[in-house]
Amino acid sequence: MKVLGIWGSPRRGGNTEILLDAFLTGAAQGGAEVEKITLTKLKISPCMEIYHCIKDGTCPIKDDMLELYPKLLAADVVALASPIFFYGLTAQAKALVDRTQALWARRYVLKQDFPGPQRQGVLLCVGATQGKHVFVGCRLTARYFFDAINVAYAAEILVRGVDEKGAILQKPEILVESEDLGRRLGQGETVGPVKLFPLA
Ligand SMILES: Cc1cc2nc3c(=O)[nH]c(=O)nc-3n(C[C@H](O)[C@H](O)[C@H](O)COP(=O)(O)O)c2cc1C
Repeated sequence: MKVLGIWGSPRRGGNTEILLDAFLTGAAQGGAEVEKITLTKLKISPCMEIYHCIKDGTCPIKDDMLELYPKLLAADVVALASPIFFYGLTAQAKALVDRTQALWARRYVLKQDFPGPQRQGVLLCVGATQGKHVFVGCRLTARYFFDAINVAYAAEILVRGVDEKGAILQKPEILVESEDLGRRLGQGETVGPVKLFPLA
């Protein structure tokens, strides 16, 4: 099993990283080959809407996203981890998601052979507030990101009320849940699917 963790927060050692690390630790314990992508270390341009991708499924923007396309296609589990920024993903995570339009084009326009759909996607999200709708934007984005890369929306861990760096450590039960989820997926277990509606 290959488990790819995409860490979308700019804050090193912050709540998202702690949550994702618990998940990846569990996945490794479950026997998976684990890789963590640190988006702040990469140069990923926003999608420029050139629509070259609908011709051959490739993106003409030559940046670090090029090395992520094969990883997204090879992973058995893709975990997208981001804090809530203004009711959405961080700009770093959203840039990656938007650039998977090239994979969407391969799948839906060019109808190329595509790995999946037995592959699984996980959303790990943290936010400061207790707002009912705080995760709505990210959940919808994750739903269509996972569809573009053909992984089932298998699981999500959504953590409200964490703001200060490391505040999530005060919720050890969440970290146990994340590690356990990672372990199950790392062992090859099928979980979910996530029931997206109602969204809040
Ligand atoms: C630019 C910015 C926008 C934010 N917007 C929201 C928001 O809309 N809703 C919310 O609940 N928290 C919001 N937050 C708080 C973060 O989601 C919260 O502090 C989170 O724990 C940060 O995770 P991290 O430590 O992994 O970076 C925002 C934080 C920043 C810096």
